[in-house]
Amino acid sequence: MTVAQDLAAVRERVAAARHLAVLTGAGVSAESGVPTFRDAQTGLWARFRPEELATEAAFRAHPQRVWDWYAFRRERVAEAQPNAGHLALAGFARRHPDRLTLITQNVDGLHQRAGSTGVLALHGQLFENAWLDAPQPCCDLERERVGSPSACAGCGNLRRPAVVWFGEALPLKTLAAAQQAARACDVLLVVGTSGQVYPAAGLAQTAQDAGAHVVVVNTAPTALDAVADVVLRGSAALILPELLSFK
Ligand code: APR
Repeated sequence: MTVAQDLAAVRERVAAARHLAVLTGAGVSAESGVPTFRDAQTGLWARFRPEELATEAAFRAHPQRVWDWYAFRRERVAEAQPNAGHLALAGFARRHPDRLTLITQNVDGLHQRAGSTGVLALHGQLFENAWLDAPQPCCDLERERVGSPSACAGCGNLRRPAVVWFGEALPLKTLAAAQQAARACDVLLVVGTSGQVYPAAGLAQTAQDAGAHVVVVNTAPTALDAVADVVLRGSAALILPELLSFK
């Protein structure tokens, strides 16, 4: 089939779906100007791979370097605006309450800024902080502390970004809700992810095993193309509005 025929067929599936699940990755924010993970790191950070910065060990060894990298990313994302892909997902959910579960690997908050609610943020939130050595803040996390990254004047804990670092467990309730949505959906859209990081990438097989129609939307081949029933090769900002625009 041609791309247009594939698109029309997927659109019909989405229109008929009782429940739609969507898993997004960094590609859905690419057209908002937020670099994807596996694009080359830019500028000052070109000499590091994300895997060398987004880890607890890296933060303990070089707290200032890791904190500055997240500050740099926060600045980049704060300047970005949600794009047509983010807005199409939020608009669909608004017009069709309780028919869409949005699961994201992204920490940039652009889905939420586009108006999506109840987003299952598997890898945390870039603009939120946590304590390095305490599951719960021992005191007022956001009250300024000494130094940067700041340390708690009471217990000495370092403030860290509330994102899931490589090697850390995902938030269990969020992951369980995402797996439940993958099992229960009629259609799973996998959008803008290379499908290399588990357990997030495993949601495609979970949905496939439960009988869902799995559709990959991506500008380049991904590790999940083989799991998909259909691959729509193209940009999320162009394809999502096509798939989700019906009233
Ligand atoms: N539309 C659709 N897909 C796009 C677009 C676009 N406009 N631009 C880029 N892509 C695709 C790329 O081809 C790539 O396959 O988006 C994918 C992004 O893949 P990654 O950079 O690997 O990002 P992601 O899959 O989200 O990474 C998953 O890995 O580094 C960890 O925790 C981090 O959440 C991240 C996880």
